[in-house]
Amino acid sequence: MVAALIPEEVLARLRAAERVLVLTGAGISAESGVPTFRDAQTGLWAKYRAEELATPEAFAANPRLVWDWYAWRRELVAQAEPNAGHRALVALEERYADFQLVTQNVDGLHARAGSSDVVELHGNITQNLCFAEGTPVDAHAHGSSVPPRCPRCGAYLRPGVVWFGEALPREALARAEQAARRSEVVLSIGTSGLVHPAAGLPLTARAHGAFVIEVNPTATPLTPHADQVLSGPAGQILPELAALL
Ligand code: OAD
Repeated sequence: MVAALIPEEVLARLRAAERVLVLTGAGISAESGVPTFRDAQTGLWAKYRAEELATPEAFAANPRLVWDWYAWRRELVAQAEPNAGHRALVALEERYADFQLVTQNVDGLHARAGSSDVVELHGNITQNLCFAEGTPVDAHAHGSSVPPRCPRCGAYLRPGVVWFGEALPREALARAEQAARRSEVVLSIGTSGLVHPAAGLPLTARAHGAFVIEVNPTATPLTPHADQVLSGPAGQILPELAALL
């Protein structure tokens, strides 16, 4: 493995910090074989854009189509394993007394890697909610309809993820924003920085004096505002970073 060049300033800031925020996006799971959101429309799903499938309106208009798309993603996630990037974040969590991992991912791979405190801003694909009541429903094998029906009210079940146009879970967002305001260093990893409010967290942190490090092989809207950019795959850069601290 070719060592990535990690600037001394990145190491110095991370060594000196006591409070660290990590924001992750789909890029951290790319090396686990989970397609990133904007690359996910492959094969069967090539003709759809995420924005056309991940909305309450799309589900109301065509519940089966949207359910099937999430069933496909759910299957991909079930087969995926956490990668070295996820594992390096477990090591970082152990290093700091105040460490908040915030993810936009719904794949649950951070928890499966061993991270103990993960704020899931966009929900979790393994969970289901009643589309009418919004309440969690444990088992989704209710009858043979697709999507399955809520055992209480008979409405369709929907995946427990946040769709475009929906509010984020209030407590998760509040915890993420508090961490952004108090952290001394922020790592923004594998996110295109296009979807708010998550994309605003590194900027909030910076406005409160944090040092912002981006890990991404391609430039994003955050790049001009980052103090340091580590350009490359998270599965390579994060283990190197963790080993050097
Ligand atoms: P995107 O698919 O928009 O962006 C993935 C980012 O990961 C891109 O910037 C890639 O350059 C980067 N990337 C790819 N491979 C990488 C690797 N090996 N290591 C590091 N970075 C890599 O995914 P998100 O930013 O997570 O929202 O998307 C944000 C939200 O938009 C998602 O949570 C979802 C989506 O619509 C909802 O579902 C509400």
